Amino acid sequence: MAFNQKDIISIRDFDKKDIEYILKLAKEMEPIARSEKKSDALSGKLLGMLFYEPSTRTRLSFEAAMKRLGGSTIGFAEAGTSSATKGENLTDTVRIVGEYSDALVIRHNMEGTARFVANIVDVPVINAGDGAGQHPTQTMLDLYTMKRILGRIDDLRIALVGDLKYGRTVHSLAYALAKFDVDVSFVSPKELKMPREILHDLSKSGVDVYETENIHEVLDKTDVLYVTRIQKERFPDPAEYLKIKGAYTITSKLLEGSDAIVMHPLPRIDEISHDVDNTPQGRYFEQAFYGVPVRMALLKSVIK
Ligand code: CP
Repeated sequence: MAFNQKDIISIRDFDKKDIEYILKLAKEMEPIARSEKKSDALSGKLLGMLFYEPSTRTRLSFEAAMKRLGGSTIGFAEAGTSSATKGENLTDTVRIVGEYSDALVIRHNMEGTARFVANIVDVPVINAGDGAGQHPTQTMLDLYTMKRILGRIDDLRIALVGDLKYGRTVHSLAYALAKFDVDVSFVSPKELKMPREILHDLSKSGVDVYETENIHEVLDKTDVLYVTRIQKERFPDPAEYLKIKGAYTITSKLLEGSDAIVMHPLPRIDEISHDVDNTPQGRYFEQAFYGVPVRMALLKSVIK
């Protein structure tokens, strides 16, 4: 089994069958995530959680997932409370916490950190986001949301909207979608286009790449609008961020005449108007909940 005691670093390390296995297991986890059933599948196991960058959903849904399965968590939500402030390096920290835990979840602002850590520790390492790199567990829950709401992933028309340059969720998701039979459009300001090397990889995998700056071009030909935040913290020059800020705002008026569901990895700033929240199309809070059953499925699969 692809996930048995394996690291989860990049979605590219898994094939369609592996992903479908996790989505199926996540469905079985849902009653436990909703507190309708109990499980002690990970009783006595400890998950180490090292968050060098802020997080709400990823950190708390991993914690909820572990606890729903009878396990426990240790770790920190910001490096400022760890001995990193005294000058301890990452290698020493992860080596220690790896010894204390049965698996490690790490988020860091530097791309490649999770892979680096996986080469140091003996327990499975899960990438909870590495800079503008990858966010593979977010991708699994994104795919689960599509399948859960629309009944399938194959044959969907999906538009990725917003910051496609710095957004790790869209980088991971684009690679995952390339494993399915889907139409993908990329909607972004010209300054925030999907990196050329990712587009090149997608073309090589047989994906028809369509790029536009105009969201109106895709609205009536899209099943899923996957909207992302402009990643202010990754801009080298704050003036560049201010020029692009607010480039797209999805409102219920904009969605009139479109059947697309609206997804967003969250947090949202101003790219989806609050008037979309309670419409049948706004599905991002449901999407955030699915982080729990999907991460339960992943933890159950990787922890011995
Ligand atoms: N989607 C996501 O990664 O959210 P957090 O940054 O709150 O974990």
